[in-house]
Amino acid sequence: MPAKKKIIIYGGAFDPPHKGHFALMKAALRIAPAALYIVPGFRSPFKDFPAAPYKDRAAMLKDGLKAEGLIGRHKGGRTRITVHPFEFKQKRLTYTWRTVDFFKKLHPDAERYFLMGSDCIETFHRWKHYRRILSKAVLLAGRRPGFGLKNLAGVPYVQLKGRFPLITSAALKAALFAGRRPRGLLPATFSYIARKGLYLGALRRRLKKTLTPERFAHTAAVTDLALELGLRYGADPLRAALAGLLHDAARDLPPRALVRYAARSRLRAPGLNEMLKKAPLLLHSYAGADLAAKRFGVKDRSVLNAIRQHTLGSRKPDLLSKIIYVADLAACDRSFPEAGTVAALARKDLDAAYLRANYVKLIYASRAGWRHPESAKVWNSLRTREKNR
Ligand SMILES: [Fe+2]
Ligand SMILES: [Fe+2]
Repeated sequence: MPAKKKIIIYGGAFDPPHKGHFALMKAALRIAPAALYIVPGFRSPFKDFPAAPYKDRAAMLKDGLKAEGLIGRHKGGRTRITVHPFEFKQKRLTYTWRTVDFFKKLHPDAERYFLMGSDCIETFHRWKHYRRILSKAVLLAGRRPGFGLKNLAGVPYVQLKGRFPLITSAALKAALFAGRRPRGLLPATFSYIARKGLYLGALRRRLKKTLTPERFAHTAAVTDLALELGLRYGADPLRAALAGLLHDAARDLPPRALVRYAARSRLRAPGLNEMLKKAPLLLHSYAGADLAAKRFGVKDRSVLNAIRQHTLGSRKPDLLSKIIYVADLAACDRSFPEAGTVAALARKDLDAAYLRANYVKLIYASRAGWRHPESAKVWNSLRTREKNR
């Protein structure tokens, strides 16, 4: 009897596709399948800034496959490799069992494999209808550093030879959001991203035109630290990057322009009248949030709040608000002595760093001759909470 034909299904976000994905595909091709289907998932669009659109993720996959010699001129073996729009066409998050069902119908007589990294195997028994997946496909897994070979939770799988790089998409995206080139990306993928301005590239380019070079450098430093702290404390990297990049969007406006802006846009801020008279520069965080929304299309409340609250702080800051406030004061471009201490503290205890940063600003404001009543209230409220911690 002739051997059954094999097909492999490879699902994932591929946002963006990276070296780990391609290494896994290369290894999987050793089982000589007739077809490999790469199925990028539908990404629930983030309210204002969606993940890279499907067509870009599909294009980056195809570029990468070509660059790696898997399709096109250097066609390896006889496997037909397809980037398949099944999940994208569902227009909503699709569970893997549905995808596997679909390919079973397409290839009822084939030996079906579902490809994944070994870090996914650990949680596979929590996937929806995982037994149903197992009844229709054999799991094919590559081992990533730090993940063992055991039959985890009784889930059987076929182990691919080799070790595969552990590249986390959060760290990869954080680097892209900061305008850096992550090592985990193929050059072809990185140039596609740069060309299309994906992962905030387009926003960074626009922002650069509106800020002075010094301000842009400060903004980049704040974004770097915000992303680092975000990864450490579990904040969404996209939100951390947006708030970091846009926090000083209005900082280059001179005080008189800020006063006019406040009147024209009916900005709301605590102690507005006093601020207008005594320290109009403080308005830049409120005008910044307004610009972020109107000029840069940000709708996310937590991002806008973090921008707004980066001058006076907040009595009840959320995680992102704390991160931006601290990162603004402690970014590596800051030369005053407390910056380094606050940055070091932030890597250990964000709440303590937030309290310290508030204290530092309060002292500076007092020395300058005027302390906004709200910042004193924020300080008192934080102190009381700290004592009860
Ligand atoms: Fe600022
Ligand atoms: Fe700043």
